Amino acid sequence: MTDFAHTRTMFDLPEGVIYLDGNSLGPLPRAAKDRVARAIADEWGQMLITGWNKAGWMDLPARVGDRVGRLIGAQPGTVVMGDTLSIKVYQALASALELRPERRVILSDTGNFPSDLYMADGLCRTLGPDYALKTVAPEAVEDAIDDHVAVLMITEVDYRTGRKHDMARLIAKAHAAGALVVWDLAHSAGAIPVDLAGANADFAVGCSYKYLNSGPGGPAFIYVAPRLADKVRPALSGWLGHEAPFAFDLDYRPGAGIERMRVGTPPVLQLAALDAALDVWDGVEMSDLRARSLELQDMFIERVEAACPDLTLATPRDHKSRGSQVSFRHAQGYAIMQALIAEGVIGDFRAPDILRFGFTPLYLSREDVAQAADILCDIMTSGRWDRPEFHTRAKVT
Ligand SMILES: Cc1ncc(COP(=O)(O)O)c(C=O)c1O
Repeated sequence: MTDFAHTRTMFDLPEGVIYLDGNSLGPLPRAAKDRVARAIADEWGQMLITGWNKAGWMDLPARVGDRVGRLIGAQPGTVVMGDTLSIKVYQALASALELRPERRVILSDTGNFPSDLYMADGLCRTLGPDYALKTVAPEAVEDAIDDHVAVLMITEVDYRTGRKHDMARLIAKAHAAGALVVWDLAHSAGAIPVDLAGANADFAVGCSYKYLNSGPGGPAFIYVAPRLADKVRPALSGWLGHEAPFAFDLDYRPGAGIERMRVGTPPVLQLAALDAALDVWDGVEMSDLRARSLELQDMFIERVEAACPDLTLATPRDHKSRGSQVSFRHAQGYAIMQALIAEGVIGDFRAPDILRFGFTPLYLSREDVAQAADILCDIMTSGRWDRPEFHTRAKVT
């Protein structure tokens, strides 16, 4: 059994804050703080350029990638870290499209994160007028898969509502139609059990700054199935994906397997933070995490629905169809969220009307969740959210 009281002590959360961020940024693991301080002082400070070899900086993307891989059902040697998620989406899509040269359609859904759609659109423009991004409603994805589709590009858990796609089912349907699938696991990795190998996934990408707690701007990851890894040709063919980067050849030759999905210099300090952050996961069973996450979500839904009838649940009630977040709709969602944050309960607002709450058993207790629901409902019934300062939109919402 996972000891969630213990994992909670591994985070440095500010006093008096209940952190239900939905999840755009995980909190600071104590180990990450120490590790980054050491990486700066002892590695960068003392080793200088020799740190690339002496401190193993060059191997961090693959070594840390394997640790992330364990949490998403990926075999060792199939995940590598680097760049941002938007870049990794582009990279996976471009590689997948090239494996289906006779097809021209990328299929996605309107619940996808806009950056994924923008990247796909940009890639289509680069490839030429024959290429098109087609989007359908999330519920219509399965029926829209046909033999024109080259790549199905899906974010498993909807960033707004928390609705979850059925990964194994969509992969089976896409493969039967001859298409490949790129999964965005931004709201899945560290949030729910994922079994990439078991589901026969082709490509997957995700970020580390949400449920994996690597800190703001932490690197993304990319997974390529071993059956494809030596076939794909990276569109972003940077020198660190080359077979021999330090030969400085003028011609590009892709590196072996997942190494070819590296692009340029890895973000060493962010990778050090992530490496330490992953220590929290060493004693965590994903099945325990899922069970506790659903319990906390159900508790929150029940309490909020009982006391705040003005909030409309946007998250599916069915456990199989949700991730690790609960969202409610309200036309004044922005102001309500600002009032809540002012009272120490931190969630997210997502336009146009979503109040989003993330449930992370690693550091959230049942008491936190009950208290957060009570504060939210008190703010609603008292009307405390309707103050001018809560209506002023900041740059980052
Ligand atoms: C589902 C999803 N995809 C892509 C992105 C973009 O990630 P990045 O800003 O790291 O490129 C995000 C960011 O929150 C996201 O939630």
